[in-house]
Amino acid sequence: MQEEFWEQRYAEPGHAYGTRPNVYLTTHRELLQPGQRVLVIGDGEGRNGVWLAEQGLNVVAVDYSATGLRKAEALAKERYVALTTHCVDLTEWDWPRYEFDFVVIIYVHFPPDVRAVMHQAALQALKPGGQIILEAFTFDQLSHDSGGPPVREMLYDASLLAKDFHQGEILELTECSDFLEEGKYHVGEAAIVRARIRRLPA
Ligand SMILES: C[S@@+](CC[C@H](N)C(=O)[O-])C[C@H]1O[C@@H](n2cnc3c(N)ncnc32)[C@H](O)[C@@H]1O
Repeated sequence: MQEEFWEQRYAEPGHAYGTRPNVYLTTHRELLQPGQRVLVIGDGEGRNGVWLAEQGLNVVAVDYSATGLRKAEALAKERYVALTTHCVDLTEWDWPRYEFDFVVIIYVHFPPDVRAVMHQAALQALKPGGQIILEAFTFDQLSHDSGGPPVREMLYDASLLAKDFHQGEILELTECSDFLEEGKYHVGEAAIVRARIRRLPA
């Protein structure tokens, strides 16, 4: 059902969230080193995965929309970078463990019955010391019309993320309001939570 929604959105011409990377992700440019491995979950049409590949990282982009990933691959080709893609439902995926320097989660909103498990799997996919970079909409986004899931149960806040990632070290966890200009579906004042979490040594 959700999968069909994304297939339809990405079948539209252009790029739903643009081709420029998420701004919060780019503020971590200095942390990223060429050759590092990064898993980008729910990468959609690839704006973030392709930007990370342009920084010299080895990128694995995962999404259940084949249409989105085809566009991601085309964007990577256009920018002369390599992108490995896997078209899978993350809730059914055999997640890798101890493999990545970063896991990037930008506006991937999981339903409440799987959300904590998905976030734990993301933490487990990191090498010890590796980091998650996450941006999502908060409950307050329901009073804006700048994008995101229209139902409370799919939205997050800082305390919910603190619980999901309690096994990691929270390096940043901030709720804020910001103006989004991401393609045609994330535009305007938005209520956001941003997080960076480090996997602790085993
Ligand atoms: C709002 S879009 C964000 C896309 C991208 N991260 C960006 O910021 O441009 C959410 C993405 O998560 C993907 N997604 C959501 N649930 C998923 C799941 N269970 N398995 C795989 N992909 C999923 C959707 O297909 C969609 O591409």
